[in-house]
Amino acid sequence: MNNKPKSLIIAVDGYSSTGKSTVAKQLAARLGYVYIDTGAMYRTVTLHAMREGWIVNGEIDEKRLREGLLGLNITFRYDEGKKRYETYLNGEYVEEQIRGMEVSGNVSAVSSIGFVRAMLVEKQREMGRQGGVVMDGRDIGSVVFPDAEIKFFMTAAPEVRAKRRYEELKQKGQEVPYEEVEANVKQRDYMDEHRKESPLKKTEDAILIDNSNMTVEEEIDYMLEKIREKQ
Ligand code: DC
Repeated sequence: MNNKPKSLIIAVDGYSSTGKSTVAKQLAARLGYVYIDTGAMYRTVTLHAMREGWIVNGEIDEKRLREGLLGLNITFRYDEGKKRYETYLNGEYVEEQIRGMEVSGNVSAVSSIGFVRAMLVEKQREMGRQGGVVMDGRDIGSVVFPDAEIKFFMTAAPEVRAKRRYEELKQKGQEVPYEEVEANVKQRDYMDEHRKESPLKKTEDAILIDNSNMTVEEEIDYMLEKIREKQ
């Protein structure tokens, strides 16, 4: 009998700043899986579009973006020292820049464009096809891998999430007023839930986790328990 655990596709979807990437990364490390941050891919496209002048005051030049996307190369490289995957845009390290407020302010609009999603979804399917992945995003369980063996959907109160994001930015030396961070979190929720293309929505088969009052450890233990049931 083969007792080797199955290489699953684990989808981690949910609202922004629910700590999805923290738990998804740790799960991947515990399981020996690959972690894929799909939000980073949308952020990288956004950064590139901003630099090229395809987004001005929130207005997106979709024609130029569509053409420009063809030559865009987004890759992840594992940093052994930091024990994490880092994002590269056409070979340039952009991990810090894609997390800033400017990109955060434009990324919802970019990620609501159908051709952007189609291109990134295809790339994500390619990356996860073999299994043994934890993929975090908004539409992984609903669109990218509707047949994923296990799906989690994360939520937490907006104020709790804004506070976490505020602390995170502060630690990185970005002093942004708390009110601005909270407004950004709420605005992104609204846009993620109401966009026409793949809106954020919990699928029926996803396991709901509200982590407003949970520690990361509690969350991981609970998720691992659910994963073991499927392996
Ligand atoms: O997870 P994040 O905050 O880094 O995601 C950035 C943005 O990208 C967020 O506004 C929603 C969008 N996104 C998406 O539409 N689909 C995904 N699979 C991942 C992220």
